[in-house]
Amino acid sequence: MNVGAKGLVACLVAASLAAAIYVLVGLHDVIATPPGRQASGADAAADREVGGVPDVSVLLRTADPAHGARIFGQCAACHSIGRGGPDLDGPNLYGVLGGPVGRRRSRYAYTAALRQTGGIWDFGRMDAWLAHPRKVVPSTSMSFAGLPDARDRADVIAYINAQGSNLPIP
Ligand code: HEC
Repeated sequence: MNVGAKGLVACLVAASLAAAIYVLVGLHDVIATPPGRQASGADAAADREVGGVPDVSVLLRTADPAHGARIFGQCAACHSIGRGGPDLDGPNLYGVLGGPVGRRRSRYAYTAALRQTGGIWDFGRMDAWLAHPRKVVPSTSMSFAGLPDARDRADVIAYINAQGSNLPIP
């Protein structure tokens, strides 16, 4: 092969690589952008998607705490959330994020199952709990089926976070 032919081959290889990258990036944008949401941050979101739904830490960036406050209406039968509020059927939730699981309220009778879970309420754990409490702690006394919509959960978590916790959004 002479020098000219080598150059031509190199050019063709580079051109087809560029075309392949173009197609992949284009497809990636289509897949990563959820309907109705801006494309901004879509790359980061795509890194942490589970089954097509962005991770809670991604959803929290665009969460709506005012909508979360309305969803909290489903919790309010059993939980107060104001500072110094009473324990009802469930414990008061002021400052629950960042607090220990099943141990924060010393006068509240948590189930042994929740107490023995250990660890702290971070965003991921709270998301799993609110999706399906019995899946996280099978014998919990929290008789609430769960919030199936990941955005509803992110919104209510944003609202809860604003009540005494204020953990930084990751
Ligand atoms: C029917 C009553 C009921 C409803 C409705 C309910 N909960 Fe609970 N919740 C409980 C009970 C009871 C516990 C204690 C569970 C245990 O000890 O196993 C609990 C525990 C919790 C805890 C753990 C608190 C801690 O200190 O570790 C969180 C967080 C929580 N609930 C959030 C919520 C949110 C948010 C909602 C609404 C989306 C909700 N709950 C709806 C009854 C309820």
